[in-house]
Amino acid sequence: MEANARDNTLLDVRALAVEFAAPRRGLRASIGRAPRAGVRVVDGVSLHIARGETLGLVGESGSGKSMTALALAGLVPKPGRIAGGTVRFEGRELTSLREAEWRRIRGARIGFVFQEPSSALNPVFTIGSQVAEALEVHGRASGSAARARAVELLDAVRIPRPAARADDYPHQWSGGMKQRALLAAAIACDPALLIADEPTTALDVRIQAEILDLLAELRDRLGLSLLVVTHDFGVVERLADRVAVMYAGRAVESGPAREVLAAPSHPYTRGLLASRPGATPGRRLAAIPGSVPDPAALPRGCAFAPRCPERIEACDERRPGATAIAPGREVRCLLREGTA
Ligand SMILES: Nc1ncnc2c1ncn2[C@@H]1O[C@H](COP(=O)(O)OP(=O)(O)OP(=O)(O)O)[C@@H](O)[C@H]1O
Ligand SMILES: [Mg+2]
Repeated sequence: MEANARDNTLLDVRALAVEFAAPRRGLRASIGRAPRAGVRVVDGVSLHIARGETLGLVGESGSGKSMTALALAGLVPKPGRIAGGTVRFEGRELTSLREAEWRRIRGARIGFVFQEPSSALNPVFTIGSQVAEALEVHGRASGSAARARAVELLDAVRIPRPAARADDYPHQWSGGMKQRALLAAAIACDPALLIADEPTTALDVRIQAEILDLLAELRDRLGLSLLVVTHDFGVVERLADRVAVMYAGRAVESGPAREVLAAPSHPYTRGLLASRPGATPGRRLAAIPGSVPDPAALPRGCAFAPRCPERIEACDERRPGATAIAPGREVRCLLREGTA
């Protein structure tokens, strides 16, 4: 069974860390010889995605979801950097790649749909030419062949009359249609993994459902693996096989989506689920009091302790390690240690 599980592995991330250079405290600090300690915005994150599988990465704003996703595509913005861990994708270690090598993987083997859809399309080029460009930069097609393939891709993401609409400019398209176009560009080179960062957040509810259905359809039809970044457990419920819940740069709970949704173990996951609209019918939304801590000033113990309804004294002293509580399920909480 172990061997089978490994054969199926597409992406295996171990102890990933992303760091930003700490803010300078005056000139002295910047010219001092000692290297400035970085601020870890992703710390010790391990993820696993099998072929054809969908992983939901969920957590509040600022928990490090986007930085994790960007790190997997070699896109951590400067002065940030991958400060530790390994990212194995299709059997290859990615963290040590040079930019030229990243460019061969990104957009080709790993497709990416970014969190800011409005800025992802260039207003002065037609939609069709921008989808075609995704093929051209990877040498998959050029000229009229690229254009014809772009029309097929727009058809694949369910744009009506794609041959005519390919000549439109982005401002002529609705937000939902633009998101479809970005998906078309992301799948143009037939990637094995598609990373979608908040693919529906900017859209209204009806369109959100359509885009989620489209993602599921593309995944099934093309045999894609999906990493879906979201703050919405509804998206996880609809799409994900497995889920990883992030808090303050760490994966605090992970496991099969159905199990985590039905019986969340970490107090943070429980709080998030309780604050879903409709979680407790007729009751007011039970938002978790407090807010995500600044990664530059994390508490010494568990980062969630200051907000945790189940906090015990030890939580302020010691960071919890990962505890396996069931096959494929891990939790970082002192209260769950020793329960396996
Ligand atoms: N360019 C940057 N320099 C320094 N810190 C940054 C930078 N970009 C992001 N961060 C910090 O990294 C942490 C994680 O940010 P990230 O964007 O990954 O969060 P997120 O979970 O995607 O949140 P959201 O739901 O708002 O998109 C945050 O504390 C953020 O302030
Ligand atoms: Mg984000």
